[in-house]
Amino acid sequence: MSALLELDRVSKTFSRGGLFSSQRVEAVKEVSFALQADKPEIFTVIGESGSGKSTLARMVLGIHAPSSGQIRLAGRDVAAYERQAFMAEVQPIFQNPFEAFNPLKQLDRYLFMTAERFGGASGRTAAEGQADEALRQVGLSLAEIAGRFPHELSGGQLQRAAIARALVAKPRLIVADEPVSMVDASLRMSIVNLFGRLRDQLGLSIIYITHDLATAYYISDRLIIMQKGVVVEQGPARAVLSAPTHPYSRQLRDAVLTPDSAGAFRVAHSAKAAATPGASS
Ligand SMILES: Nc1ncnc2c1ncn2[C@@H]1O[C@H](COP(=O)(O)OP(=O)(O)O)[C@@H](O)[C@H]1O
Ligand SMILES: [Mg+2]
Repeated sequence: MSALLELDRVSKTFSRGGLFSSQRVEAVKEVSFALQADKPEIFTVIGESGSGKSTLARMVLGIHAPSSGQIRLAGRDVAAYERQAFMAEVQPIFQNPFEAFNPLKQLDRYLFMTAERFGGASGRTAAEGQADEALRQVGLSLAEIAGRFPHELSGGQLQRAAIARALVAKPRLIVADEPVSMVDASLRMSIVNLFGRLRDQLGLSIIYITHDLATAYYISDRLIIMQKGVVVEQGPARAVLSAPTHPYSRQLRDAVLTPDSAGAFRVAHSAKAAATPGASS
C-alpha cells in the first residue's frame, strides 16, 4: 500500500505585525494524515473560519512551505518537485470562481493553457479535445463555453468550469477549498455529487474543505475536524459525525444533524447552521 499524499506533523506559524510588535499565529499545528494511492477518496476538512483550513490547503498545494513537518506526494517532498510536474498531479479549486478567472479572458483559453502546460496536450487540436472531455465530465461541453467570458456563466456553471480546468491537467489529487460556499444552496449537492463521480469514475482523490456539514456528511469518506489549527477529531465521516468524541465536533453535529426516530442522525436545516458552526460556543 503506497501513499499518494502524506502529511507528517505539519505546522505553519505566521508572524504578524510590525518590527516591534510582532505576533505569532499558529495557523496549523502538527497535522498528520495520509491518502493512499490505490484508494481514491473524498477526504474532508471541516472547521470554522480561522481554524487553519486554507493554510493547510495552501501547504498541500505547495503555495506555502510548512514551518515544520513534511508533506510528501508519492513519497517525495512537495518542496522537491519542479512546479510544473507538481501541478500535473495536484490541482486546486477555490471558493470564488469569479476570482479564479480573469474577467477579460475567455474561459476556453484557461482550459487550453492547462491542457498544454500540465495535461500533456501538444497543439491546439489535442488541447481542444482534452478541454471538451474535461468539460463533459462536469456536465458542460466546449461548444457551450467556447469564446465565452466568466460573467456570461452562472456561479454554478463557472465553478463547474473551474473543476473542468483542474481536470484537464489529469491530476491525481484535487484540493478544493470551500468550493460550494459561493454556490447557491440548491446547487451544492450537484457539485459534491460531481466530486463523488470523479472519485468513482476517474479514481481521483479530493481534499474537500468546507464548513458545510450537510454536504460533508453526505459525500465524505473520511474527515478531519480542525479547531484553532489542531485536528480535534478524525475518522470515517459517518462514524465521526454520528458519534463525535470532542465537544467541538459534538457542537457541530448538533448544529446540523437531528436524530430521527431510529436514533440515526439525519441532516437538518444545514445551510443556515453550517454558515455559523461556532454559533453555539
Ligand atoms: N498569510 C497569512 N499571514 C498571517 N496570518 C495568516 C495568513 N494566512 C492565514 N493567517 C491566519 O492563520 C489563521 C488560519 O487562517 P486560515 O487558514 O485562512 O483559516 P480558515 O481557512 O479555516 O478560515 C487565521 O488566524 C489567519 O488570520
Ligand atoms: Mg479558508
